[in-house]
Amino acid sequence: MPEDIEKIITQMTLEEKAALCTGATAWTSTPVDRLGIPELIVSDGPHGVRKVPDVNSMAIASLPSTCFPTASCLASTWNRDLIYEMGEALAEECIAMNVDVLLGPGVNMKRSPLGGRNFEYFSEDPYLAGEMAASMINGVQSKGVGTALKHFAANNQEFQRFSINAVIDERTLREIYLAGFEKAVKQAEPWTVMCSYNKVNGTFASQNSYLLTDILKKEWGFEGFIMSDWGAVRDRIAALKAGLDWEMPGPQERRVKAVVEAVRNGVLDEAVLDESVRRILNITFRAKKTPKTGTYNADAHHELAHKIANEGMVLLKNNGLLPLKNHEHIAIIGQSAENAHFQGGGSSHINPTKVAVPFNEIKKQADDAELIYAPGYPMDDTFQQGLIDEAVSIARAADVAVLFIALPSYKESEGYDRADMDLTEQQIALIKAVSKVQPKTVVVINNGAPVVMSEWIDGVAAVIEGWMMGQAGGIAIADILFGKVNPSGKLAETFPMRLEDTPAYINWPGETGAVHYGEGLFIGYRYYDTKKVPVLFPFGYGLSYTTFEYSHPKVSASTFKDVEGVTVSVDVTNTGRLAGAEIVQVYVHDRECSLARPEKELKGFAKVFLEPGETKTVSIKLDFRAFSFYNVEYKQWITETGEFDILIAASSTDIRHKLTVRLESTLDLPCVLDIESTIREWVTDRRGNAVLTPLIKNIVEMNRQSFGDDQEKDATGMDTMEMFYDMPLVSVLMFNQKFLSMPPEEMVEDLLRQAHAIK
Ligand code: BGC
Repeated sequence: MPEDIEKIITQMTLEEKAALCTGATAWTSTPVDRLGIPELIVSDGPHGVRKVPDVNSMAIASLPSTCFPTASCLASTWNRDLIYEMGEALAEECIAMNVDVLLGPGVNMKRSPLGGRNFEYFSEDPYLAGEMAASMINGVQSKGVGTALKHFAANNQEFQRFSINAVIDERTLREIYLAGFEKAVKQAEPWTVMCSYNKVNGTFASQNSYLLTDILKKEWGFEGFIMSDWGAVRDRIAALKAGLDWEMPGPQERRVKAVVEAVRNGVLDEAVLDESVRRILNITFRAKKTPKTGTYNADAHHELAHKIANEGMVLLKNNGLLPLKNHEHIAIIGQSAENAHFQGGGSSHINPTKVAVPFNEIKKQADDAELIYAPGYPMDDTFQQGLIDEAVSIARAADVAVLFIALPSYKESEGYDRADMDLTEQQIALIKAVSKVQPKTVVVINNGAPVVMSEWIDGVAAVIEGWMMGQAGGIAIADILFGKVNPSGKLAETFPMRLEDTPAYINWPGETGAVHYGEGLFIGYRYYDTKKVPVLFPFGYGLSYTTFEYSHPKVSASTFKDVEGVTVSVDVTNTGRLAGAEIVQVYVHDRECSLARPEKELKGFAKVFLEPGETKTVSIKLDFRAFSFYNVEYKQWITETGEFDILIAASSTDIRHKLTVRLESTLDLPCVLDIESTIREWVTDRRGNAVLTPLIKNIVEMNRQSFGDDQEKDATGMDTMEMFYDMPLVSVLMFNQKFLSMPPEEMVEDLLRQAHAIK
């Protein structure tokens, strides 16, 4: 295989280079036979391989493949190893179906529960999302198959997703919306990254050189190539210049011509095109090192999908009814018991190898119980009282009712956002009616994002969040209902009480072409915790059939340097009678910071499996990033010396232990004082302080003479000293010009020169 890429580039014609940077079909790159450049084949993604047999088609049915649970469920496992294993399985299917790069995973944040594509995304927390994405990428790529981390960046809604301008301040972008991408890129080095459709701060992501080149390629050291989302490029030349290497889908003759002309006219430097060609060739030749032959074990993958669903489902409520035992008559109600709702609509839609039907799986595990079924609600959005009446009558006659409630695709899918967080009117009425006659009612919901439950949750005995559970999820539900498996999933996103409580509520979904991320850093639990807004189920929450105790919390050092980090450990004991798994979470609370910070942030977690009575020590390392925040003035992540609380927790609101540590910052930050810096900024800056301290007494005195220093003398009725510290030094001096020997601006410039000169 020819791999001297530099040599190949010199042999390629301009037309061949331009063509390589544009798809040949909906799913392939343009090969150059005479130079031995093969085509690269990509397929959706992310939770299954959607290989479309005709490369020219985007929409026809794909070849059968394993439909794993979608990302909401995957993240709720909090199990890195399991997600890695899923990655390996996905790669095996890619190899069997001749796919070089799988289009996934998606690591965008769940800014609002209404995001239509939330089912395809992991979490409202960038640490957790980044860990999950990195695990999946590492799994897939360990087998020589590539991934496309998507959608870079800020695809947090479907409303006007092809054009909306996401207006996000720099710190929020770095700490929330880019952090998951950064983690995945640095920890797993995806072969490719896919840009998003939307604009970010005024520029299309596909043409955004700040995002694509400055941050992704230069700052994070991303070495693969960047592809467009399908149809995301408006201006091909601007996109190439910004760092967008590959435009999809193809063919796009017009674009190829435009690139050729741009180089000929001197509008586009050929070196820019060469760099994209180099990146695409690197990945193409790397991909071809993996022979695409053989088959995969569909049964084993179905079993893996089953295992993941077992670990991802979250037991939200249980008054003791679950696990079910010795019931003779079980009413199974709800369409989704018969028609499993296990995936979402859109580009991720998989043609499954087989499907485990919940009703059948329950039948297998329900011993000798008699099962009676009623559909409960229609597939469409009509209201049919007759179906409710039928369900009520079988529920009344049974010992227990299991209600299967699936959020219909007209309410939740790629391409449009949800209008509300509600189940359908009929589903709500059904749950209320059934639980009224049958207190032993279990509700199993299948959905990709939180739903409101306040109208009915008090009336039911148990609730299982079954997610879009993948093709084998039907078995997992039966396992959990009957206790074959002890639930161990925890929420990767908050379940709010009501839509009005959600942080983005008043800034959603935007208007006149733009959406303002007005809540800033405060999304998900960062908002609810800081604002003390009660929620239905907090981030990190999930029940088990056993109980866990946390003891002997420790930190490796009570004072430590930021670059060294600190290790937290805790003993976890299974104090119940069943084997089970606990997800230990570590949050960090900054006691004092020069900038606003969320009440606490997730910075580490571990999932631990324990037999009854067993104890294991869990250790979690917290590094520099666990304590730092992005400072827009310094344009970097910084730490500040001071105390931090380390919270060892079973959920974001169930804090089991708190340890206080002292971090010593080793950063020697540059001086960022400028003409507008306030007195407070001058005195808190090491260099500014050294320069201003000898003068500050005089300045205070001048100010006192100009304004007076107590309320009686002060004709304005204000405490001017309060205002004084937060005024720019130059403004304070302006008011005192009569005392100065030079103009205030010149004086500040001189002080700035002195401060900046200090080492
Ligand atoms: C989606 C991508 C997907 C691509 C190809 C786009 O509309 O946003 O996630 O990979 O289509 O199907």
